[in-house]
Amino acid sequence: MSLNKEIAVIGLGYVGLPLAIEFAKKYKVVGFDIDKIRVKELKKGTDRTNEVSKKNLLASSNIIFTTDPNNMKNCDFFILTVPTPITKNNKPDLSIIKKAVMIISQVLKENSIVILESTVYPGVTENFLVPILEKNSKFKHKKNFFVAYSPERINPGETKYKLTNIKKVVGADSRSTLVKVSKLYGSIIKAGIHKVSSIKVAEASKAIENAQRDINIAFVNEVMMLSKALKINSNEVLEAAKTKWNFLSFKPGLVGGHCIGVDPYYLAEAGKKVNFDTKIILAGRTVNDSVPDYLLKNINRKLKKNSKILFLGLSFKEDVGDIRNSKAIVLVQKIKKKNYTIDCYDPRVNAQELKKEYSIVMNKPKSKYDCIILAVAHKEFVKMKKQDILKLTKDDSYIIDIKGVWNKKISHKFNNYWCL
Ligand SMILES: NC(=O)c1ccc[n+]([C@@H]2O[C@H](COP(=O)([O-])OP(=O)(O)OC[C@H]3O[C@@H](n4cnc5c(N)ncnc54)[C@H](O)[C@@H]3O)[C@@H](O)[C@H]2O)c1
Repeated sequence: MSLNKEIAVIGLGYVGLPLAIEFAKKYKVVGFDIDKIRVKELKKGTDRTNEVSKKNLLASSNIIFTTDPNNMKNCDFFILTVPTPITKNNKPDLSIIKKAVMIISQVLKENSIVILESTVYPGVTENFLVPILEKNSKFKHKKNFFVAYSPERINPGETKYKLTNIKKVVGADSRSTLVKVSKLYGSIIKAGIHKVSSIKVAEASKAIENAQRDINIAFVNEVMMLSKALKINSNEVLEAAKTKWNFLSFKPGLVGGHCIGVDPYYLAEAGKKVNFDTKIILAGRTVNDSVPDYLLKNINRKLKKNSKILFLGLSFKEDVGDIRNSKAIVLVQKIKKKNYTIDCYDPRVNAQELKKEYSIVMNKPKSKYDCIILAVAHKEFVKMKKQDILKLTKDDSYIIDIKGVWNKKISHKFNNYWCL
């Protein structure tokens, strides 16, 4: 791949920014985002998602961060890494992709390749993105421009598997595009490229990865609920089952975020479009979405009116500050509607963002609480010393340790220790 190629990365979030920075080690990169504040921060070397360090952000002279589409006019590749959320009715919301593609349409150069990385259902690249590009540019697909799909497979907070050591799946509209796009990614991805025969295969491969995880966790969540109903220890059940080599080990818990909690709906939509009724894919969502209510019922059974609750952990998973679609926050909102007082704390979450998005004010833990709910197993909480936990509790405090991370440390101290 010639080094004089220019790459536009559109959408500089969790996915787009690390990708843009990696490409900038070899190519000229235009990092484009519509969020003026985000672009201003990046220019100053601040990445509020904590994926890229200040040093790495400021190190490259090959990258510009911009909100001006005209800066993308010379680009040979346009890589889209914009959000793909769901609507209030759990339908895929492709409006952000549409808006971004309209912007690209205005600056598309002849013979360029547009690559979608956002998670979508099979068919979005060819049946949704291409028509928008054709309608709004002066170009025809496969004559004047080409498309490919290559899903991003990073996990937020993951330190071992990062962008360059995860195999990259690539599907394209022709053999020649597949070769070009594979070469492009191959120049930065050390783990190698997995080429597939079509764009739809690549799109499906990503959505099913996340749907599979959702279903596996839903299964252990149901096992947990069933075990508790049978008055047996669900942890012990799972630990015992795990001793067989082919038992798949997952932990019960809250499943949120913008991937696992969302992608099954994208997959189900693909089925609907061809009159195929998916049976298992959304069953996982039903079980996992019911976990906050299951926990609330338990809290209501155990706590008296006006009890003081300390709620620890608000992000959608451990060791990240991302609060999008967090089920811990769903649980807080349900608790707030009841007759309790609640202090919420998460050392990883941005307090201003939390207040703005969910009207939740964070308070550092103080005094003693009738109940502690440890919802997200951030390292900071896992490492808390026994004495520090005891300082926040009374002898009869109720401890809901959703992930069971304090089990060995303190469960013997409380009659009311409960984990999933
Ligand atoms: N976060 C992850 O770990 C992860 C992992 C794998 C796949 N994905 C998928 O990647 C996609 C992006 O996710 P993310 O977490 O990086 O999202 P994000 O919200 O962190 O970042 C998206 C960025 O796109 C920008 N944007 C929105 N509309 C735009 C437009 N019209 N033009 C240019 N920029 C625009 C936003 O301002 C934001 O900075 C989603 O489809 C997601 O499902 C995410």
